[in-house]
This record gives sequence, structure tokens and C-alpha cells, in this order.
Amino acid sequence: MTRTPVNVTVTGAAGQIGYALLFRIASGHLLGPDVPVKLRLLEIPQAVKAAEGTAMELDDCAFPLLKGIDIFDNPTDGFAGANVALLVGARPRTQGMERGDLLSANGGIFKPQGEAINAGAADDIKVLVVGNPANTNALIAQQHAPDVPAERFTAMTRLDHNRAISQLAQKTGAAVSDIAKLTIWGNHSATQYPDIFHAEIAGKNAAETVNDEAWLADTFIPTVAKRGAAIIEARGASSAASAANAAIDHVYTWVNGTKPGDWTSMGVVSDGSYGVPAGLISSFPVTCQDGKWEIVQGLEINEFSRGRIDASVNELAEERDAVRELGLI
Ligand code: NAD
Ligand code: LMR
Repeated sequence: MTRTPVNVTVTGAAGQIGYALLFRIASGHLLGPDVPVKLRLLEIPQAVKAAEGTAMELDDCAFPLLKGIDIFDNPTDGFAGANVALLVGARPRTQGMERGDLLSANGGIFKPQGEAINAGAADDIKVLVVGNPANTNALIAQQHAPDVPAERFTAMTRLDHNRAISQLAQKTGAAVSDIAKLTIWGNHSATQYPDIFHAEIAGKNAAETVNDEAWLADTFIPTVAKRGAAIIEARGASSAASAANAAIDHVYTWVNGTKPGDWTSMGVVSDGSYGVPAGLISSFPVTCQDGKWEIVQGLEINEFSRGRIDASVNELAEERDAVRELGLI
């Protein structure tokens, strides 16, 4: 049976994450090895030529699953018929830019994109926002797409999740594949909280196995939370291949499900779980099944975790209030 190709829109397609992402989507890593895709690349007019160059390279790979590439310089056309949308393009912070300026510049991108998704995306649209500030950009887009169920808008914290697994594996000598149930809570920012109190290493509680609260507080949490800045410092550019890899992981898991006995971390619309105000797009432990995510319920939150979750969630509430004041939502 021939499957209908899935339309995947990627914004910021000519950027560095775009370059690391598109070839993996086209080779079947986003949705699965038997799912044909059509790529819809959205860029600003000045970067369309560069996107055309990337499209030529995609052609040159002769990927069997890639059934077409279209390039657009406006969101209305870019999101028309999209089943999956990866919102990567964003306005980076430049020198002298205040937080309000950054939020405002990104509002100018994510408001029209939300409206275009509302107007023309496919009924089963799934949106992942990668462009920073990812959680609040996702909130802006979601607020301008009132006809799309809010749970279809998600923000990426899978890179943080993967970073935390890797750090924990290095500390304990465990294989990354033995680590399960790790959680990133809150914002994709330096306030995020990587939580190992419910995590397991080969079935044993990770926090008990590590048994080193000083390492947790002074090494593990800051290393994971500030990893993005450390990469920028070392590479002279922000993470790209690892960010693209995390975007692939996020969508693949959302569509194909979490493994039994494990969960993942996703920025999703809060329903008030764990005291996170309803409506904020915050990272939670989630399981995925049949293309839907669900927040893992009933976890006991100790005092160490409570304060850190609250701090990150407070930052999200401040960002929401700031974009509200700017009239962006
Ligand atoms: P980049 O500057 O290399 O590329 C961004 C691209 O977006 C550029 O080609 C630009 O022309 C395009 N763009 C800008 N405005 C656009 C619009 N309105 N529509 C379509 N395209 C537009 O940046 P990058 O390294 O690819 O990173 C992209 C974003 O991802 C940044 O905001 C970065 O901070 C963020 N990021 C997030 C995570 C995460 O874990 N959530 C990790 C790494 C990077
Ligand atoms: C990352 O986590 O690597 C990025 O979000 C860093 C950044 O500021 O772009």
C-alpha cells in the first residue's frame, strides 16, 4: 500500500539547525523508516536562496522517502496543509538587546505563524517550537491558533533531557540506554530543573544510586542548565546538530510513543498539574501513545525539587506577563 506523504514544515530552514535537521527528516528519522514526507521550507526572503541550495543537496541525496520540497517566504503558504511543523527560525538575541526587545521581536514571528497554522494547517497538525525563548514562543503561536487544540503546541526540552541522561551516565558509568524516567521541569533556560529523584538506572533509583546531593546541586543541575551557553562559548555558535537530534527525538516519540516503563520531557500546555499554572507551556514528564501526550501523574515532589520547579515556572509566568503587556497574546 502506498502511504500519503506527511507534510513537514520547517521554519528557519536555511539556518544551522535546519541544515542538521532536514537530511534526517528526509531519510526517515522523524516519523519512521516507512513514512514518506514532503518538505515545506519556510524562510525570510533574504534566506530563500540559501534554502534553495539546501534543497538542491536534498535532491542530490535521492532519499527514497522524500516526495517533494517546496520553499516559501510567507507563513500562510508555508503552513498550508502541514501535518507536522518545526518552528526553528527565531530572532536571536543580539548585543544590547533587552529581554523585552527579544520577546517583542519573536512575537512578530510567532504571532503570524500561529495565525497561519490556525488558518491552513492540516487537522492533525503537531507543532514543535525550537526557536528561543521556545516555551514562550510556543505560547504566543498557540494563543493565535484558537481553532487548533492547545495540546498540539509543544516546546523543545528534549535537548536538556538528553543532556541530563548523558551527564548521569558519565557520573555513574551506566549505559545511556539503562537510564529511564528522567524529567526536565519548567523553562528551556538556565532556570530549568533536571530531576533525577524519579529516574532509574537499570531499574534502581538514580538519586539513591548517586547518593551525592552536593554533586546534584553544584555540578549536575548547573551543567545541564547552562550547557547551551557552554556550547556557544566552545563552538562560537549555539548547538545545532544536538538540537536537531533532539527535535527528531521529540517528534518521533510524540508520534510513535514512549517506551514501556519510561517517559520523556516535553514543553506542553499545563493543566495545573504539579502546581504549574494552567495555560503555561512548561516542561513536564510525559508519556506518549497513539500520537498523544499525557503528563505523568502522582509523582511525589520533595522540597529540593519543589523550590527549583517553582523558580523555573515563575520565570515562565513572568515571560507570559511580559508578552501580554506587549500585546502579543
Ligand atoms: P540560525 O540563526 O542559524 O538560523 C535561524 C534561521 O531562521 C535563519 O536562517 C533565519 O533566516 C530564519 N528565520 C528568522 N526569522 C524567520 C521567520 N520569521 N520565518 C522563517 N525563518 C526565519 O539559528 P539556529 O542555530 O538554527 O537556531 C535557531 C533557533 O533555535 C534559535 O532561536 C536558537 O536559540 C534555538 N535553539 C533552541 C534549542 C532548544 O533546545 N530549544 C537548542 C538550540 C537552539
Ligand atoms: C541550547 O540549549 O543549546 C540553546 O537553547 C542555547 C541558545 O541560547 O541558543
